Amino acid sequence: MVKIAIMGMGVVGGGVADIILKNADTLRNKINSVDKDGIEVKYIMDRRTFEGHPLADRVTGDIDKILSDEEVSIVVEAMGGLHPAFEFTKRALESGKNVVTSNKAVVSAYGPELLAIAAEKNVSYMFEASVGGGIPIIRPLTNCLTANKIKSVYGILNGTTNYILTEMKRNGTAFSDALSDAQKKGYAEADPTADISGADTCRKICILANLTYGIYIVPEDVYYEGITEITTEHLALADKLGYKIKLAGCAYAIDGDKLAVYTAPVALHEDHSIASVDGVYNAVSVTGDYVGDLLFCGQGAGALPTASAVVGDIVDVIKYKPSRNVWKNVGESRLVDYNEIESGYFVCIGGKIDANDITREFGKVKVVLGEDSKAFVAPSATLIQHKAKLERLVNKGAEILADLRILEA
Ligand code: HSE
Repeated sequence: MVKIAIMGMGVVGGGVADIILKNADTLRNKINSVDKDGIEVKYIMDRRTFEGHPLADRVTGDIDKILSDEEVSIVVEAMGGLHPAFEFTKRALESGKNVVTSNKAVVSAYGPELLAIAAEKNVSYMFEASVGGGIPIIRPLTNCLTANKIKSVYGILNGTTNYILTEMKRNGTAFSDALSDAQKKGYAEADPTADISGADTCRKICILANLTYGIYIVPEDVYYEGITEITTEHLALADKLGYKIKLAGCAYAIDGDKLAVYTAPVALHEDHSIASVDGVYNAVSVTGDYVGDLLFCGQGAGALPTASAVVGDIVDVIKYKPSRNVWKNVGESRLVDYNEIESGYFVCIGGKIDANDITREFGKVKVVLGEDSKAFVAPSATLIQHKAKLERLVNKGAEILADLRILEA
């Protein structure tokens, strides 16, 4: 019998316990070449007691009990947040336990350090669930696609914000109502600021960029913004121009060796492969030089999809341990300044401004009208040129209501 401990019995930890109880036979069959008896949750570490839960007798508040128990070979870290999750993970790896997690905050901040400890102790640190919820994306990038130079990896990486934008657009739901709905459904972080500010997406795109490009970028070095300024009017005006607004995390190679990495709300043409990915669904687009374009899509948040990825990692550790991801804390920054990245823009403006003034700055563009505002799609320019042009419109009486990159391809 493989014995595991779950640290943190919240949305994800609870989902892991559920899958292990309910899919016990399936899991036993999956690992029977290594162990005939299946997987057992020996400990749950949490402050709560979970009376009536079938695993209530496994609850402990004592991490030392878990770390000193030689029967426990895998620890699931589903506590969330940076501290003490990082310290507990480190101690678990140092004690020779494999650690499986969904905690993108810890992975993006301490990935290289924790992977180095795992390598030294000959155990695994696995984090498939840290990006894209139930979507397999870490393993494809680090294993299946290694023959390729990856040109780009980008997509919708946060279920809460995609759910909010979808509800606002489809049903005219107010931002705050859509957010509280996402919280009730277990999509949002304990503090949803990380979702709506773009910080969560930023952590995830950093993890993908690090693993894809073999570099070390921390979220603090990466530009990000969220969806708090997006209104139903912006969504409607973009729609009239044939665009969808989504929060995207993007990483792509520029001029060979340089990398653009950022998180921002973007306008996607309705024909774009991820434009119609709505609700809690995430989508990650990957382009490799040999494989071409790939699209990974599925539920990006929520107890069971995320727990599905965690349990997949547990089975992987049991069957193929140890597994090594390459992520080294070395090398010069190859990041291109966000303000230097070229793209087209979706611009939404209010105030007194003539369509001729828009044409004068941005060339012949289609202008669509809202109730008190108008919007247009501007052709590619670096952000600096683009800002200068917008500045001139503001000087003529325009109020810039939204100004989003267009994500091509
Ligand atoms: N709050 C996150 C999201 C959970 O909404 O995507 C999954 O990482």
